[in-house]
Amino acid sequence: MTDTVWFDRDRNRLCIIDQTLLPNEVKILSLHTAEAVEQAIRTLQVRGAPAIGVAAAIGLAVLAAEMRPFHEALLLTCAERLKRVRPTAVNLAWAINRMLAGAHDPESLAVQAQAIWAQDIATCRKIGVQGSALLRDGGAILTHCNAGRLAAVRYGTALAPVYVATEQGKRVRVFADETRPLLQGARLTAWELREAGVPVTLLCDNMAAGLLARGAVDAVFVGADRVARNGDAANKTGSLGLSILARHFGVPFYVCAPFSTYDAAITAGTAIPIEQRAGEELTALWYAKPMAPAGVDIYNPAFDVVPHKNITAFVTEHGVLAPDDLQRLSK
Ligand code: MRU
Repeated sequence: MTDTVWFDRDRNRLCIIDQTLLPNEVKILSLHTAEAVEQAIRTLQVRGAPAIGVAAAIGLAVLAAEMRPFHEALLLTCAERLKRVRPTAVNLAWAINRMLAGAHDPESLAVQAQAIWAQDIATCRKIGVQGSALLRDGGAILTHCNAGRLAAVRYGTALAPVYVATEQGKRVRVFADETRPLLQGARLTAWELREAGVPVTLLCDNMAAGLLARGAVDAVFVGADRVARNGDAANKTGSLGLSILARHFGVPFYVCAPFSTYDAAITAGTAIPIEQRAGEELTALWYAKPMAPAGVDIYNPAFDVVPHKNITAFVTEHGVLAPDDLQRLSK
Protein backbone atom coordinates (compact mmCIF):
# COMPACT_ATOMS: atom_id res chain seq x y z
CA MET A 1 0.00 0.00 0.00
CA THR A 2 1.26 3.50 -0.75
CA ASP A 3 1.36 6.18 1.88
CA THR A 4 -1.39 8.80 1.87
CA VAL A 5 0.98 11.77 1.60
CA TRP A 6 4.65 11.94 0.58
CA PHE A 7 7.39 14.20 -0.69
CA ASP A 8 8.80 13.42 -4.13
CA ARG A 9 12.07 15.29 -3.72
CA ASP A 10 13.44 14.34 -7.14
CA ARG A 11 10.53 16.06 -8.88
CA ASN A 12 9.88 18.53 -6.05
CA ARG A 13 6.22 17.56 -5.69
CA LEU A 14 3.73 17.05 -2.87
CA CYS A 15 2.11 13.70 -3.65
CA ILE A 16 -1.27 12.68 -2.24
CA ILE A 17 -3.95 10.09 -2.90
CA ASP A 18 -6.99 12.04 -4.10
CA GLN A 19 -9.47 11.02 -1.40
CA THR A 20 -12.44 12.61 -3.14
CA LEU A 21 -12.29 9.82 -5.75
CA LEU A 22 -12.22 6.89 -3.33
CA PRO A 23 -13.42 4.16 -3.24
CA ASN A 24 -13.94 4.21 -7.01
CA GLU A 25 -10.52 5.31 -8.22
CA VAL A 26 -7.04 5.44 -6.72
CA LYS A 27 -5.40 8.47 -8.27
CA ILE A 28 -2.17 10.11 -7.17
CA LEU A 29 -1.95 13.89 -7.44
CA SER A 30 1.47 15.59 -7.74
CA LEU A 31 1.19 19.21 -6.64
CA HIS A 32 3.64 22.10 -6.85
CA THR A 33 1.65 25.35 -6.77
CA ALA A 34 0.20 27.27 -3.81
CA GLU A 35 -3.26 27.17 -5.41
CA ALA A 36 -3.19 23.40 -5.89
CA VAL A 37 -1.98 22.73 -2.33
CA GLU A 38 -4.63 25.03 -0.87
CA GLN A 39 -7.36 23.52 -3.02
CA ALA A 40 -6.34 19.96 -2.10
CA ILE A 41 -6.74 20.77 1.60
CA ARG A 42 -9.92 22.83 1.16
CA THR A 43 -11.73 20.26 -0.99
CA LEU A 44 -10.62 17.29 1.16
CA GLN A 45 -8.50 15.67 -1.55
CA VAL A 46 -6.24 15.28 1.46
CA ARG A 47 -8.01 15.30 4.84
CA GLY A 48 -7.69 14.07 8.41
CA ALA A 49 -5.89 16.22 10.96
CA PRO A 50 -2.39 14.66 10.80
CA ALA A 51 -2.48 14.27 7.00
CA ILE A 52 -3.31 17.91 6.32
CA GLY A 53 -0.49 19.02 8.65
CA VAL A 54 2.02 16.83 6.81
CA ALA A 55 0.65 17.89 3.41
CA ALA A 56 0.95 21.57 4.32
CA ALA A 57 4.53 21.07 5.53
CA ILE A 58 5.58 19.31 2.33
CA GLY A 59 3.58 21.81 0.28
CA LEU A 60 5.52 24.71 1.82
CA ALA A 61 8.84 22.99 1.15
CA VAL A 62 7.82 22.44 -2.48
CA LEU A 63 6.71 26.07 -2.89
CA ALA A 64 9.97 27.32 -1.37
CA ALA A 65 12.01 25.31 -3.87
CA GLU A 66 9.83 26.54 -6.75
CA MET A 67 10.60 30.20 -5.92
CA ARG A 68 13.59 31.45 -7.83
CA PRO A 69 14.93 33.31 -6.02
CA PHE A 70 13.60 32.12 -2.64
CA HIS A 71 11.27 34.77 -1.17
CA GLU A 72 10.69 34.23 2.56
CA ALA A 73 7.98 36.90 2.93
CA LEU A 74 5.98 35.34 0.10
CA LEU A 75 6.26 31.92 1.71
CA LEU A 76 5.01 33.39 4.99
CA THR A 77 1.96 34.80 3.22
CA CYS A 78 1.19 31.38 1.69
CA ALA A 79 1.68 29.75 5.10
CA GLU A 80 -0.74 32.13 6.82
CA ARG A 81 -3.36 31.53 4.11
CA LEU A 82 -2.97 27.76 4.40
CA LYS A 83 -3.44 27.84 8.17
CA ARG A 84 -6.91 29.33 7.73
CA VAL A 85 -8.14 26.78 5.18
CA ARG A 86 -9.27 24.28 7.84
CA PRO A 87 -9.59 25.99 11.19
CA THR A 88 -10.49 23.15 13.55
CA ALA A 89 -7.62 20.71 12.97
CA VAL A 90 -4.76 22.21 14.96
CA ASN A 91 -2.22 19.88 13.32
CA LEU A 92 -2.36 22.16 10.28
CA ALA A 93 -1.16 25.22 12.20
CA TRP A 94 1.18 23.04 14.30
CA ALA A 95 3.01 21.73 11.22
CA ILE A 96 3.13 25.12 9.51
CA ASN A 97 4.49 26.84 12.64
CA ARG A 98 7.13 24.15 12.96
CA MET A 99 8.17 24.71 9.36
CA LEU A 100 8.41 28.45 9.80
CA ALA A 101 10.24 28.29 13.12
CA GLY A 102 13.25 26.30 12.06
CA ALA A 103 13.75 26.88 8.38
CA HIS A 104 14.65 29.89 6.30
CA ASP A 105 15.87 28.42 3.03
CA PRO A 106 14.53 25.75 0.65
CA GLU A 107 16.93 23.03 1.76
CA SER A 108 16.21 23.33 5.48
CA LEU A 109 12.46 23.57 4.74
CA ALA A 110 12.71 20.32 2.79
CA VAL A 111 14.57 18.63 5.64
CA GLN A 112 11.99 19.87 8.14
CA ALA A 113 9.05 18.68 6.00
CA GLN A 114 10.63 15.25 5.67
CA ALA A 115 11.10 15.15 9.46
CA ILE A 116 7.44 16.03 10.08
CA TRP A 117 6.42 13.25 7.65
CA ALA A 118 8.66 10.69 9.37
CA GLN A 119 7.47 11.81 12.81
CA ASP A 120 3.87 11.20 11.81
CA ILE A 121 4.66 7.60 10.86
CA ALA A 122 6.59 6.94 14.08
CA THR A 123 4.01 8.64 16.31
CA CYS A 124 1.02 6.87 14.80
CA ARG A 125 2.84 3.56 15.07
CA LYS A 126 3.33 4.20 18.81
CA ILE A 127 -0.36 5.06 19.17
CA GLY A 128 -1.08 1.75 17.47
CA VAL A 129 1.15 -0.17 19.88
CA GLN A 130 -0.38 1.55 22.93
CA GLY A 131 -3.94 1.06 21.71
CA SER A 132 -3.53 -2.53 20.58
CA ALA A 133 -3.34 -3.58 24.24
CA LEU A 134 -6.96 -2.44 24.57
CA LEU A 135 -8.11 -4.83 21.84
CA ARG A 136 -8.86 -8.53 22.29
CA ASP A 137 -8.76 -11.32 19.75
CA GLY A 138 -12.28 -11.77 18.42
CA GLY A 139 -13.32 -8.32 19.61
CA ALA A 140 -15.04 -5.46 17.79
CA ILE A 141 -14.90 -1.69 17.90
CA LEU A 142 -16.98 1.12 16.46
CA THR A 143 -15.34 4.09 14.75
CA HIS A 144 -16.58 7.31 13.21
CA CYS A 145 -15.33 9.20 10.14
CA ASN A 146 -11.88 8.16 8.96
CA ALA A 147 -8.99 8.28 11.38
CA GLY A 148 -7.10 5.53 9.61
CA ARG A 149 -4.11 5.50 7.32
CA LEU A 150 -5.88 7.89 4.92
CA ALA A 151 -6.07 10.49 7.69
CA ALA A 152 -2.33 10.41 8.40
CA VAL A 153 0.72 9.21 6.48
CA ARG A 154 0.70 5.44 7.09
CA TYR A 155 -1.11 4.09 10.18
CA GLY A 156 -3.69 6.68 11.21
CA THR A 157 -4.72 7.26 14.78
CA ALA A 158 -7.99 5.55 15.76
CA LEU A 159 -7.31 2.64 13.40
CA ALA A 160 -3.61 2.31 14.23
CA PRO A 161 -4.41 0.01 17.20
CA VAL A 162 -6.45 -2.20 14.87
CA TYR A 163 -3.59 -2.43 12.37
CA VAL A 164 -1.06 -3.27 15.07
CA ALA A 165 -3.42 -5.77 16.74
CA THR A 166 -3.93 -7.41 13.34
CA GLU A 167 -0.15 -7.68 12.92
CA GLN A 168 -0.06 -9.33 16.35
CA GLY A 169 -2.46 -11.99 15.08
CA LYS A 170 -5.62 -10.69 16.75
CA ARG A 171 -8.81 -10.68 14.71
CA VAL A 172 -10.63 -7.40 15.37
CA ARG A 173 -13.78 -6.33 13.54
CA VAL A 174 -14.40 -2.65 12.88
CA PHE A 175 -17.92 -1.26 12.67
CA ALA A 176 -17.68 1.94 10.63
CA ASP A 177 -20.25 4.72 10.80
CA GLU A 178 -20.86 5.98 7.25
CA THR A 179 -20.36 9.56 8.59
CA ARG A 180 -22.71 12.02 6.97
CA PRO A 181 -22.50 14.31 5.12
CA LEU A 182 -19.24 13.44 3.35
CA LEU A 183 -19.27 9.69 4.00
CA GLN A 184 -15.64 9.37 5.10
CA GLY A 185 -16.61 6.18 6.94
CA ALA A 186 -18.24 4.56 3.91
CA ARG A 187 -15.87 5.82 1.23
CA LEU A 188 -12.56 5.80 3.13
CA THR A 189 -12.63 3.71 6.33
CA ALA A 190 -14.45 0.80 4.71
CA TRP A 191 -12.11 1.00 1.70
CA GLU A 192 -8.82 1.11 3.58
CA LEU A 193 -9.80 -1.66 6.02
CA ARG A 194 -10.85 -3.93 3.19
CA GLU A 195 -7.58 -3.19 1.39
CA ALA A 196 -5.78 -4.23 4.58
CA GLY A 197 -7.85 -7.39 5.02
CA VAL A 198 -9.43 -6.19 8.29
CA PRO A 199 -13.09 -7.25 8.73
CA VAL A 200 -15.32 -4.19 8.50
CA THR A 201 -19.06 -3.67 8.77
CA LEU A 202 -20.61 -0.43 7.54
CA LEU A 203 -23.62 1.17 9.22
CA CYS A 204 -25.55 4.41 8.93
CA ASP A 205 -24.79 6.91 11.69
CA ASN A 206 -28.27 6.60 13.16
CA MET A 207 -27.76 2.84 13.69
CA ALA A 208 -24.97 3.27 16.22
CA ALA A 209 -27.33 3.48 19.20
CA GLY A 210 -28.86 0.10 18.38
CA LEU A 211 -25.42 -1.43 17.85
CA LEU A 212 -24.17 -0.22 21.23
CA ALA A 213 -27.44 -1.21 22.93
CA ARG A 214 -27.02 -4.83 21.93
CA GLY A 215 -23.45 -4.96 23.20
CA ALA A 216 -21.96 -5.63 19.77
CA VAL A 217 -18.77 -3.63 20.34
CA ASP A 218 -16.16 -3.58 23.10
CA ALA A 219 -15.28 0.10 22.65
CA VAL A 220 -15.55 3.18 20.48
CA PHE A 221 -12.30 4.48 18.95
CA VAL A 222 -12.20 7.91 17.29
CA GLY A 223 -9.51 10.41 16.31
CA ALA A 224 -9.40 14.10 17.14
CA ASP A 225 -8.81 17.36 15.33
CA ARG A 226 -8.01 19.42 18.41
CA VAL A 227 -7.89 18.62 22.12
CA ALA A 228 -8.33 21.50 24.56
CA ARG A 229 -6.31 21.86 27.78
CA ASN A 230 -9.10 20.29 29.86
CA GLY A 231 -9.32 17.24 27.57
CA ASP A 232 -12.41 18.23 25.56
CA ALA A 233 -11.84 16.89 22.04
CA ALA A 234 -13.16 18.16 18.71
CA ASN A 235 -13.69 15.48 16.10
CA LYS A 236 -15.93 14.82 13.12
CA THR A 237 -19.51 15.92 13.62
CA GLY A 238 -21.39 13.06 15.25
CA SER A 239 -18.61 12.19 17.68
CA LEU A 240 -20.37 14.04 20.52
CA GLY A 241 -23.54 11.99 20.03
CA LEU A 242 -21.54 8.78 19.93
CA SER A 243 -19.77 9.66 23.16
CA ILE A 244 -23.12 10.26 24.88
CA LEU A 245 -24.38 6.90 23.62
CA ALA A 246 -21.20 5.14 24.73
CA ARG A 247 -21.50 6.63 28.20
CA HIS A 248 -25.17 5.68 28.37
CA PHE A 249 -24.48 2.06 27.45
CA GLY A 250 -21.28 1.78 29.51
CA VAL A 251 -19.01 1.30 26.48
CA PRO A 252 -15.44 2.72 26.76
CA PHE A 253 -14.83 5.72 24.50
CA TYR A 254 -11.21 6.20 23.40
CA VAL A 255 -9.79 9.24 21.60
CA CYS A 256 -6.60 8.38 19.71
CA ALA A 257 -4.43 11.38 18.93
CA PRO A 258 -0.80 12.48 18.88
CA PHE A 259 0.35 15.30 21.14
CA SER A 260 0.45 17.58 18.08
CA THR A 261 -3.38 17.56 18.28
CA TYR A 262 -3.29 18.89 21.84
CA ASP A 263 -3.74 22.68 22.03
CA ALA A 264 -2.76 23.93 25.45
CA ALA A 265 -3.65 27.49 24.41
CA ILE A 266 -7.35 26.56 24.45
CA THR A 267 -8.74 25.97 27.91
CA ALA A 268 -11.95 24.14 27.02
CA GLY A 269 -13.77 22.70 24.04
CA THR A 270 -16.21 25.61 23.83
CA ALA A 271 -13.33 27.77 22.53
CA ILE A 272 -12.32 25.39 19.72
CA PRO A 273 -13.12 27.02 16.35
CA ILE A 274 -15.57 24.83 14.43
CA GLU A 275 -15.31 24.75 10.66
CA GLN A 276 -18.63 25.44 8.90
CA ARG A 277 -18.86 23.89 5.47
CA ALA A 278 -20.94 24.55 2.37
CA GLY A 279 -24.63 23.71 2.50
CA GLU A 280 -24.30 21.85 -0.81
CA GLU A 281 -22.68 19.00 1.11
CA LEU A 282 -26.19 18.32 2.45
CA THR A 283 -28.34 19.37 -0.47
CA ALA A 284 -26.57 18.49 -3.69
CA LEU A 285 -23.55 16.27 -3.31
CA TRP A 286 -24.52 12.65 -3.82
CA TYR A 287 -27.39 12.50 -6.26
CA ALA A 288 -27.85 13.95 -9.74
CA LYS A 289 -31.08 15.50 -8.46
CA PRO A 290 -31.25 17.93 -5.52
CA MET A 291 -31.43 16.19 -2.15
CA ALA A 292 -33.37 18.99 -0.41
CA PRO A 293 -35.73 21.82 -1.37
CA ALA A 294 -33.97 24.72 -3.11
CA GLY A 295 -32.93 27.51 -0.74
CA VAL A 296 -33.47 25.57 2.50
CA ASP A 297 -31.45 26.94 5.44
CA ILE A 298 -28.51 24.65 6.28
CA TYR A 299 -26.63 23.80 9.50
CA ASN A 300 -23.39 22.03 8.56
CA PRO A 301 -20.63 22.14 11.18
CA ALA A 302 -17.85 19.73 10.19
CA PHE A 303 -16.94 18.94 13.80
CA ASP A 304 -18.39 18.78 17.29
CA VAL A 305 -16.77 18.59 20.69
CA VAL A 306 -16.70 15.56 22.99
CA PRO A 307 -16.57 16.72 26.63
CA HIS A 308 -13.70 15.17 28.59
CA LYS A 309 -16.15 13.53 31.01
CA ASN A 310 -17.29 11.27 28.15
CA ILE A 311 -13.74 10.18 27.29
CA THR A 312 -12.47 7.03 28.96
CA ALA A 313 -8.88 7.69 27.89
CA PHE A 314 -6.66 9.23 25.25
CA VAL A 315 -4.46 6.83 23.32
CA THR A 316 -1.29 8.81 22.61
CA GLU A 317 2.31 8.15 21.61
CA HIS A 318 3.17 8.53 25.32
CA GLY A 319 0.66 6.01 26.61
CA VAL A 320 -3.01 5.56 27.37
CA LEU A 321 -3.93 8.58 29.48
CA ALA A 322 -7.03 9.64 31.37
CA PRO A 323 -8.07 13.23 30.52
CA ASP A 324 -6.51 14.50 33.80
CA ASP A 325 -3.22 12.72 33.12
CA LEU A 326 -3.09 14.19 29.63
CA GLN A 327 -3.26 17.65 31.12
CA ARG A 328 -0.54 16.84 33.65
CA LEU A 329 1.80 15.26 31.08
CA SER A 330 1.43 18.05 28.58
CA LYS A 331 2.68 20.50 31.22
O1 MRU B 1 -13.23 16.59 7.68
P1 MRU B 1 -12.20 15.51 7.83
O2 MRU B 1 -12.47 14.33 6.96
O3 MRU B 1 -10.80 16.05 7.67
O4 MRU B 1 -12.37 15.05 9.34
C1 MRU B 1 -11.49 14.09 9.85
C2 MRU B 1 -11.79 13.71 11.25
O5 MRU B 1 -12.65 14.22 11.89
C3 MRU B 1 -10.85 12.72 11.86
O6 MRU B 1 -11.51 11.91 12.77
C4 MRU B 1 -9.77 13.52 12.60
O7 MRU B 1 -9.13 14.39 11.69
C5 MRU B 1 -8.77 12.66 13.23
S1 MRU B 1 -7.79 11.95 11.97
C6 MRU B 1 -6.59 10.98 12.49
